Amino acid sequence: MKRIEIKEVLALSGDGRAVSVCGWVRSRRGNKNVSFIALNDGSTIKNIQVVADLAKFSDEDLRQVTTGACLHVTGTLVESMGAGQTVEIQADSIEVYGTADPLTYPLQKKGHSLEYLREIAHLRPRTNTFGAVLRIRHNMAIAIHSYFHEHGYFYFHTPLITASDCEGAGQMFQVTTKNLYNLKKDKDGQIDYSDDFFGKMAALTVSGQLEGELGAMALGKIYTFGPTFRAENSNTPRHLAEFWMIEPEVAFIQKEELMDLEEDFLKYCVRWALDNCKDDLQFLNDMFDKGLIERLRSVIDTDFVRLPYTEGIAILQEAVKKGRKFEFPCNWGDDLASEHERYLVEEHFGKPVIMTDYPKEIKAFYMKLNEDNQTVQGTDVLFPAIGEIIGGSVREENYDKLMAEIERRNIPMKDMWWYLDTRRYGSAPHAGFGLGFERLLLFVTGMQNIRDVIPFPRTPKSAEF
Ligand code: 4AD
Ligand code: MG
Repeated sequence: MKRIEIKEVLALSGDGRAVSVCGWVRSRRGNKNVSFIALNDGSTIKNIQVVADLAKFSDEDLRQVTTGACLHVTGTLVESMGAGQTVEIQADSIEVYGTADPLTYPLQKKGHSLEYLREIAHLRPRTNTFGAVLRIRHNMAIAIHSYFHEHGYFYFHTPLITASDCEGAGQMFQVTTKNLYNLKKDKDGQIDYSDDFFGKMAALTVSGQLEGELGAMALGKIYTFGPTFRAENSNTPRHLAEFWMIEPEVAFIQKEELMDLEEDFLKYCVRWALDNCKDDLQFLNDMFDKGLIERLRSVIDTDFVRLPYTEGIAILQEAVKKGRKFEFPCNWGDDLASEHERYLVEEHFGKPVIMTDYPKEIKAFYMKLNEDNQTVQGTDVLFPAIGEIIGGSVREENYDKLMAEIERRNIPMKDMWWYLDTRRYGSAPHAGFGLGFERLLLFVTGMQNIRDVIPFPRTPKSAEF
């Protein structure tokens, strides 16, 4: 008999048909007549109840049917009398594919803490919580591809190994085949990379944007969606050393259209989650965050606030005057801390904010300079509970201005010639942004820690699994 997924079985009626399912035992309970086995195969958060009649199965038959064991069950699908499910399987045969010793299997009881589950990340996908999060993660990836495909963007693959530091923050992981114990140095004591694999210093990318711009200058509208690496030593609930980023880059648009895109795209993703992840969202809503679904709906229904940085600072300073305490200062020119972003979004406006026109000193070299010569056309999106979810900007398309900025910042020119060529040949106004995939997932799942929305998190001092 062909095996069917539990998600499908649960949609059938209990009309006595024969079925065959596989899955992992979530729990087993019973009395002296029958044993109830809750089985889950990952296709849905819901379990199927398997009923083993003890007249048919001996203690010995069921001895290995313990939490975590993997079973293949065939039987008859019937209406269920019990609460919580419409159908159940009256088992005819139970084959144990793999046992799970109750003395050592780490996922025994329900309600393990998220911290504990992080230590057993190889097994946590088998819990309800991580099953839900990972199914939502998949659905959001599909939403993203679907949005861009529907809107005529091309998926553009940018390299993971690169020699340029897009964000200029120097937080790159080096890639080398050199013997680190015996490095060749030049006469000034500098490492000589000429005999290294790439013949120069290379690193894992912090962003696909620079290459993405090359794509947009040919295909018009592109997006990237891939792993990104940052060696920032920040142990926070919002930073990973390896995360996934989505970076659309669009020719011929200006600031207003960029903000429209950011807002439309985020709303599309959130709506997709509400439409396609109902059971999983309901579970997370009930278990962790009673306001989750409500918050997702409210984001779809409200217009995001569009707020120049300078006005944002004024609002924050007004709050300080009225007695609001912040840990970090917020004078014009300061980079906003998470507490500032969240004050604006959660307390002052009560909705997402797109902050624009930042001081140039706190932003990357490629952002378009405003006429005031002080601010650049950044367009970051700040979200409730998250803070910055998107970092975006209009790009400086003028060769001379871009060149001046590169020189002012002492960015090594020899690595940038190909990027500058976009401004030298057929330059065009263009803009784009980067969405941190895991930040989006934090918002959509309501999870509090970014380590809990990626299967195997990479953070300082942690690269297990
Ligand atoms: O603001 P960032 O640094 O912008 C860029 O990299 C631009 N090149 C994007 C572009 O315009 N194409 O990063 C973009 C987003 C952030 O808003 C945040 O959501 C996420 O990437 N992000 C991180 N997510 C998890 N862990 C980290 N360490 C992150 N750093 C940035
Ligand atoms: Mg940023």
